[in-house]
Amino acid sequence: MPPLNQLTIDEVVRETPDAVTLVFEPPASGAPLAYQPGQFLTFRVPDSGAGSVGRCYSLCSSPATDARPAVTVKRVPGGYASNWLCDNAMPGLALDCLAPSGSFTPQDWDRDFLLFAAGSGITPIMSIIKTALHDHRNSLALVYANRDHESTIFASQLEELEHRYPSRFTVHYSWDCESGLPNPDSLAARLTSIPVNGRHDAYLCGPEPFMDVAAAALEISNMAAGRIHREKFQSLTSNPFSHADGAREPQPKEKDLCTVRATVDIAGDRHELKWPRESRLLDLLLSQEIDAPYACREGSCGACAFTLISGEVKLLANDTLDSYELEQGVRLACQSVPLTDDVEIEFN
Ligand SMILES: Cc1cc2nc3c(=O)[nH]c(=O)nc-3n(C[C@H](O)[C@H](O)[C@H](O)COP(=O)(O)OP(=O)(O)OC[C@H]3O[C@@H](n4cnc5c(N)ncnc54)[C@H](O)[C@@H]3O)c2cc1C
Ligand code: FES
Repeated sequence: MPPLNQLTIDEVVRETPDAVTLVFEPPASGAPLAYQPGQFLTFRVPDSGAGSVGRCYSLCSSPATDARPAVTVKRVPGGYASNWLCDNAMPGLALDCLAPSGSFTPQDWDRDFLLFAAGSGITPIMSIIKTALHDHRNSLALVYANRDHESTIFASQLEELEHRYPSRFTVHYSWDCESGLPNPDSLAARLTSIPVNGRHDAYLCGPEPFMDVAAAALEISNMAAGRIHREKFQSLTSNPFSHADGAREPQPKEKDLCTVRATVDIAGDRHELKWPRESRLLDLLLSQEIDAPYACREGSCGACAFTLISGEVKLLANDTLDSYELEQGVRLACQSVPLTDDVEIEFN
């Protein structure tokens, strides 16, 4: 199992008719929850059938401005966990979760940000906005799409931030009820007041069709593709808590005898390992009882991301890293098999 926390709900804030924010007490350990803006928590949501399901929710709080960590959950019609949380969350309820993870965190806070959010996609963007405005000096423009005014999460907080930082932060709303579904031209039109230039990074979060439209709008505005970062919201199909529910970790197979030398640095702890050529790195680490971060184990959440220092690996699947991150040597432990005889890896 990756490191497991238990967080107790301190307050439930009804944001819209179908979204609630769960504000957690500081962790019982006394140390504040260590996370980066843009990261998410993976919760164990009780399920009478399978024991539990695992679901990821982005932190909408900022480590810079909020003493208590918080996530916002929006009901998905017919969805299990989102409705369970919206119906059952109450102060005092303790939820198991994995350590914060994910790679949707800006690397360079000196650059200006173009932020595109739709619906619940505002959550990691909100954490980035609050952190940037409080701790940095860059300018931010948010294009925020929703069905209607009533379903717009954090509307009053955003208005307050716009008033507090008028020269650095602007919000451009797109409401389906007024202007229809966003398309590349309608979103690009909202960017005309912002001189998009080489100083911008773009962060996109929302349903996939919305992110495609936002990326197309940015292309119209001549934004380099490598500067566009996406966070995809989807349900995990595997359960990272199955161990706690009684299932065993898969063990490496006997036939994987041909190994490469791997040096793995996890949070300052250095491990020298023999890595079977057919095994995925995450399976190897877990079989050696090394606490590696993970959530989905299917290449879609980015929780297991590491940086390749030397050597090469093959990614069997990748549904989360963009071309910029790949160029920077970022890879996924749950999908990596070795290609070279020596590989050096750092989790950070
Ligand atoms: C990194 C990350 C961050 C996220 N952050 C947030 C966040 O901040 N806020 C937020 O609200 N969400 C967030 N999500 C999404 C969240 O994890 C869940 O995916 C979401 O809440 C839906 O989960 P659910 O269990 O309610 O729905 P599910 O039960 O997974 O169902 C999802 C949809 O699939 C349909 N469905 C389910 N089973 C079947 C089936 N067998 N056949 C056909 N259709 C089916 C359901 O009807 C529903 O429409 C995030 C996801 C990721 C990966
Ligand atoms: S654990 Fe989700 S991408 Fe590897």
